[in-house]
Amino acid sequence: MANLDFIYNRKSVRQFKDIPVPKEDIVELLKAGTYAPSPKHQQNWHFVVLQNKDIINKMADIVTKNHEKIGQLAKNEKDFKRHMSTINYYTCFKHAPVVIIVYSCEYKMIEYKILKENNAPQEVLDVLVSPQSAAQGIGAAVENILLAATQMGYGSCYMTGPTHSKKEIENLIGFEKEGYELMSMISLGVAEDDTPKQPSRKPLEDVVTFID
Ligand SMILES: Cc1cc2nc3c(=O)[nH]c(=O)nc-3n(C[C@H](O)[C@H](O)[C@H](O)COP(=O)(O)O)c2cc1C
Repeated sequence: MANLDFIYNRKSVRQFKDIPVPKEDIVELLKAGTYAPSPKHQQNWHFVVLQNKDIINKMADIVTKNHEKIGQLAKNEKDFKRHMSTINYYTCFKHAPVVIIVYSCEYKMIEYKILKENNAPQEVLDVLVSPQSAAQGIGAAVENILLAATQMGYGSCYMTGPTHSKKEIENLIGFEKEGYELMSMISLGVAEDDTPKQPSRKPLEDVVTFID
């Protein structure tokens, strides 16, 4: 049997030791990310690496403020508190020595362009874009990074929660590339001792169907 421990050992890590990650390791992980498949090999990703504690903390402050602001939509104090109880899920990147911000650009689908120019009905165009190929390419790249990080002895966490503050984070970071927007982030570092176990999985028979 193949040794798939690097897959089974990966788990989301949200607490990190205060140990820097050497640049060559970060570069290796990013390289692994770029070996992911992408729709029509458009490699529609860009990674911005943050290691500056001040910027990472500012980003966590922005996310917390926005989370509170959104929480004000709750109709009562109890629901506001329930909403705020998830804040660690949105800001746990602040404990990481490295945060990789993942940007993506639109997947340029030539068929879509041709059909649109030929006045294809909107429902056909909608079906073409429904797989959200750009996002799927990003997911593949992020997973490569997470698995490589596990193999190299690092802890990591895939995060999209903070993207409710994407505009403010984009402004804070100041990274700009035509057509690219912030999609997700990865916190990375040496895991704290005794971080929570990986949650159990649904049984395979619940999520797999063989059709003969
Ligand atoms: C697309 C995506 C977005 C996620 N966003 C967050 C997040 O914002 N914050 C967080 O703490 N974990 C986030 N996670 C991690 C999940 O909570 C985690 O993968 C899941 O609970 C299973 O746990 P495991 O990764 O330890 O196996 C995200 C995972 C994925 C795939």
